[in-house]
Amino acid sequence: MDLQKETKKIKDMIEEDKKNVSSMKELNELKVKYLGKKGVITELNSKIKDVPNEEKKEFGMKVNEVRGLFNVFYDEEKINIETKELNEKLESEKIDITLPATSLTIGAPNILEKVVEDMEELFMSMGYDVIEGPEIEEDLYNFELLNLPKGHPARDSQDTFYLESDKILLRSHTSPVQARTMLKGKGEKPIRMVCPGKTYRRDDDDATHSHNFMQIEGLLVDEKVTLADLKGTFDVAAKHLFGENCKTRFRPSYYPFTEPSVETDISCFSCGGKGCSICKNTGWITISGAGVVNPKVLEMCGYDPKKWHGFAFGFGLERVAMLKYGINDIRTFYQTDLRQNVLFDRKEDK
Ligand code: PHE
Repeated sequence: MDLQKETKKIKDMIEEDKKNVSSMKELNELKVKYLGKKGVITELNSKIKDVPNEEKKEFGMKVNEVRGLFNVFYDEEKINIETKELNEKLESEKIDITLPATSLTIGAPNILEKVVEDMEELFMSMGYDVIEGPEIEEDLYNFELLNLPKGHPARDSQDTFYLESDKILLRSHTSPVQARTMLKGKGEKPIRMVCPGKTYRRDDDDATHSHNFMQIEGLLVDEKVTLADLKGTFDVAAKHLFGENCKTRFRPSYYPFTEPSVETDISCFSCGGKGCSICKNTGWITISGAGVVNPKVLEMCGYDPKKWHGFAFGFGLERVAMLKYGINDIRTFYQTDLRQNVLFDRKEDK
């Protein structure tokens, strides 16, 4: 074997191959061609065993020389190709900073949602659970178990949307969740829960009524609970929502599921009680219905009224939001004018 000739051949081959490489794939193919298991240089190297001992050293050096030649070429070409590919990528991803930007829209949380979260946080801090109930409800929970049997006159005050039969309806208040929660408690567990959610009534829509509105229900059941506990809890909630100066009062009312029942009023935050258009010159604003859970309801829902007592309340959430943010038409909550949220969000920040 003529070593000179062999190595020259390989060197020429490398020079020739150099001209045709333009990608990493091709470059790596060349690496296999020269240095792979059956590569040209590898094969040449394997012939060292046939070389007489005294020539082995020179042979080795020559093979190393071509291997070095290839490696230098490989390393240089690799840098070239990588730089070229990076430049191409940068070029194709170039951003034209002179193009006009898409304008940013200002977002803000929905203010009803804010009131809900605010109330949830407050009640959770007092150990209440937040619970949800179905909007499509059974007559059983919406009325029967709340001491509103069929034919009860108070059913009329909640003109209800019935679905398919007279047993399935859109809940007319969040109070059915009271019954559901008590039944789950199986007459054994004390209960502290609030439930925010949508409710439906066949009201005509006007500035203060909507056939779809939100309530937050509250229910506490334990062994020694009185109307005074309700008063204290309502006081905390009112001050949290409307400020430390807010005073509260109860007026007698009627709900079949509470006895006694009350309307809960807060002192008018606008005039401080002197009388103005917001409080219709009374100095007071009603924001929820409430009362001590009627023993009949406790019993129907599995709680022994001799042992257990409770209070319940139901806030109208739009009403709270309207008062808190000075909105005078309930319908604006259901018209998709996003400006409202931004507007009132900003107002509160001031
Ligand atoms: N569910 C009553 C309503 O919608 C409000 C209420 C809740 C009253 C809980 C008493 C206790 O008018």
